[in-house]
Amino acid sequence: MGVQTADLDNCLGWYLEFFDAEKKWELDRFSELTLSRLPGIRKLIEISFGDIRLHLFDRAGHNGRTPDDDGFLFQHVCVQVATPQELVERRRRWIELYESGHYTFARPELPTEIVVDDDGVRSLYLFDVNGLEYELSHIPDGPR
Ligand SMILES: [Fe+2]
Repeated sequence: MGVQTADLDNCLGWYLEFFDAEKKWELDRFSELTLSRLPGIRKLIEISFGDIRLHLFDRAGHNGRTPDDDGFLFQHVCVQVATPQELVERRRRWIELYESGHYTFARPELPTEIVVDDDGVRSLYLFDVNGLEYELSHIPDGPR
């Protein structure tokens, strides 16, 4: 998955801290294909956490706006966590990072409460520093 940001330091720092992610590699020279697909791309950094690999990159011409909620978009990305307690901890960490003042948030809305559906699936919705939405969820009997 690729995350396009206006401020790569802000984005990288937040992802490393919030998701306990690890930086894998970075790139600042790009192929003709990449430059034609993503004009103005300056730096790309791959990070990983769990089974997820993310490519964070910035664009010189970024307009600083979040996507149109009513149009086509990847509305949220669902990340499964191992225990219900982890949802509580991540929610707390989100608020700690927000209150630290170290990061700039495109959409400064607090995470939702943790909701539980009829099957015992717990979900927590939150925005990253770019205003992109994640659902962190715990499924009682493992992946389905
Ligand atoms: Fe979902």
